[in-house]
Amino acid sequence: MNLTFAEPKLPRKGAIVVFVAAGGKLGASAKALDKTTQGAVARAASHDGFSGKSGETRALLAPAGLEDGMVILLGLGEGKELNALAARKAGAKVYQALVGAKAKSATLMVDGIAGCKLSLGDQAANLAYGARLRSYRFDRYLTKEAADKKPSLGKFSVMVKGVAAARKAYAPLDALAEGVDLTRDLVSEPGNVIYPKTLADECRKLSKLGVKVEVLGEKQMEKLGMGALLGVGMGSERESFLVTMQWSGGGKTKKPVALVGKGVTFDTGGISIKPSAGMEEMKWDMGGSGAVIGAMHALATRKAKANVVGVVGLVENMPSGTAQRPGDIVTTMSGQTIEVLNTDAEGRLVLADALWYTQDRFKPQLMIDLATLTGAIMVALGSEHAGMFASDDKLAQGLSAAGEAVGELLWRMPLGEAYDKQLDGGPADMANISAGRWGGSITAAQLLQRFTNGVPWAHLDIAGTAWSNKAKPLMAKGATGFGVQLLDRFVADNFES
Ligand code: BES
Ligand code: MN
Ligand code: ZN
Repeated sequence: MNLTFAEPKLPRKGAIVVFVAAGGKLGASAKALDKTTQGAVARAASHDGFSGKSGETRALLAPAGLEDGMVILLGLGEGKELNALAARKAGAKVYQALVGAKAKSATLMVDGIAGCKLSLGDQAANLAYGARLRSYRFDRYLTKEAADKKPSLGKFSVMVKGVAAARKAYAPLDALAEGVDLTRDLVSEPGNVIYPKTLADECRKLSKLGVKVEVLGEKQMEKLGMGALLGVGMGSERESFLVTMQWSGGGKTKKPVALVGKGVTFDTGGISIKPSAGMEEMKWDMGGSGAVIGAMHALATRKAKANVVGVVGLVENMPSGTAQRPGDIVTTMSGQTIEVLNTDAEGRLVLADALWYTQDRFKPQLMIDLATLTGAIMVALGSEHAGMFASDDKLAQGLSAAGEAVGELLWRMPLGEAYDKQLDGGPADMANISAGRWGGSITAAQLLQRFTNGVPWAHLDIAGTAWSNKAKPLMAKGATGFGVQLLDRFVADNFES
């Protein structure tokens, strides 16, 4: 979809999308088109079942008075409720309506709505961004798809008075959408395409954007003593990597914000092997690192005025003659030892070394890790909220607010000594799983916390949100890119002013 902005001029061809407010009140362009179409627009807007609520659409095909094409009414509800996120969701609905009506080219007339706090430029930019996000499709392996099954929309023009302001507002959103789409590509790719080496290569590509990328292989990680991360990769033919990505857009003296991602490119469970049903889903067990890479891409593309470092631990968890065994004891970079009671609780092993390395090497002011860490978080929260564990209230509040602003919701979960103790009692400093059955997401978080060395830290368990089997308002089904928008917003709101 080729998206452009232009000064308003009502077209007479293609699909024309016009605003309707709550109660079916026509916007300026809708009124103009109503004249051209001899009242068809007003009739459609007042027809049963259309109320003009936010995101509601109605298509009028080939109305009299237009050379060719269609009119799509876009409900925007009450102006005062139309914030950036609502505009994005409405833009996504526009995209769906256009594709549903098989439109090939479309023009969206942004002419404002009474009571809306967003400037015209912001309305245009956010509507466009929502459409752009919703247009993502992972179709590179469909070699035989019929043309009429492919989305029809080629050209999408957004018309708005003061087009320069709209383009300016859209530029950072375009960067963000690129980051989200990169994450969705990486998460969607199967394990034979994205494995530690190829994912590290994707990280390397960020150097074109001015990101300083360093890749540590197994030799270097052995020297650093990363026995936990390396243990997970032991059963795989593929080499493990740890990649650091530094974006230095803030002052020289400012300590960085660190983003740390679980990058298990495929999780079979290892010797504690998973059941075969649904195991293919474990191609997206690198969703945390995917989000970190996408966020770094977005931040660098929009030249964020902040210092941010991304660190991803990339391994494949396979069962084989060289795989680690249940009961193995590994020594982490921190010196603490872990008894691996279950080789399927591998994400925390990867993050234990990645977190320790991050605080040791970069002395960050805070660390946020993202990981598809536990099935238990899906039991607790389903797929609407990611679980958040935080050692610091201000950090937790900042992340929650960022998530709410972009529609990537977080729900804070507890941490505490009683949970922490559940890892103790074995032959090593800790076991990688707790003895009891319950609270599995919490005990996993407790293990991570032992590797943060007191640095303010938050852990986002995105096992329930990185992938969706049904479409979301802004996302087609499949990889959601969860975390990219949230991290971008968190950085923008807290470290760039
Ligand atoms: N990658 C999984 C968690 C997961 C499950 C992510 C489903 C997405 C969807 C993780 O490595 C795992 O296997 N966790 C185990 C931990 C258990 C062995 C303590 C789990 O949640 O079952
Ligand atoms: Mn696992
Ligand atoms: Zn896993």
